[in-house]
Amino acid sequence: MELYDVMRTTFAARDFTDDPLPDATLYKILENARFAPTGGNRQGGQVIVVRDRKTREALSALTIPAAKRYTAQVKAGENPWNSIDPPTVDAETIEQTTPPSRLTDTVLRAAVVLIVCVDLKVVASMDQYLERVGVISGASIYPFVWNILLAARHEGYGGTITTMAVAQEPKLQELLGIPEHVAVCAIMPLGKPVKQLTKLKRNSVSSFTVLEQWDGEPLTEE
Ligand SMILES: Cc1cc2nc3c(=O)[nH]c(=O)nc-3n(C[C@H](O)[C@H](O)[C@H](O)COP(=O)(O)O)c2cc1C
Repeated sequence: MELYDVMRTTFAARDFTDDPLPDATLYKILENARFAPTGGNRQGGQVIVVRDRKTREALSALTIPAAKRYTAQVKAGENPWNSIDPPTVDAETIEQTTPPSRLTDTVLRAAVVLIVCVDLKVVASMDQYLERVGVISGASIYPFVWNILLAARHEGYGGTITTMAVAQEPKLQELLGIPEHVAVCAIMPLGKPVKQLTKLKRNSVSSFTVLEQWDGEPLTEE
């Protein structure tokens, strides 16, 4: 596929056919995805390939608490899990909320689930002393995560970056034998999508790009 076609049509695939994703294809996807950049080229990424049914069920179960809060907050008109505005929904409402199965079951239906981790001993986290949630560390792993999805799309596969289970990272680490200093960044179900979306809803360039200052003029085509 053409690069721009891949970039414009790599959607969050959650429904998969029964087709397998063979190790050889997975290897090819990762073989190309590995050229993503990392801070200082430290390359602290690690991937665990999960096919085991029991592990998938445990992953699905670990997704539920965060998915409940996510769903309850969306229902209340909030930006779920944002780190600035605390949720207004109470604990009981969250507990009683049933999350949609697409948030919890995709790991059960995919051909394979990739757990992408990063070793925090090698990641430069420039924003670690700021009084806000850290975002810079993610920049040393998410280009790789996205490259995996782009390469998968190129090979006729698809998947989703999921993060809900990371709210319970210690349990994930225990489940998969991941050391404490290694962060789980994405749990990615991958497989052959039932259908291919080609028209993704995204904001226009002018709506998020300004010239010179935060309140500057929008960048336009001409
Ligand atoms: C950082 C990040 C975390 C995400 N977490 C989840 C998740 O936990 N579960 C899920 O189903 N989708 C998750 N997604 C997928 C987004 O919901 C999806 O990319 C977005 O809705 C756009 O979908 P589209 O590409 O199909 O238009 C995540 C995406 C990103 C980038």
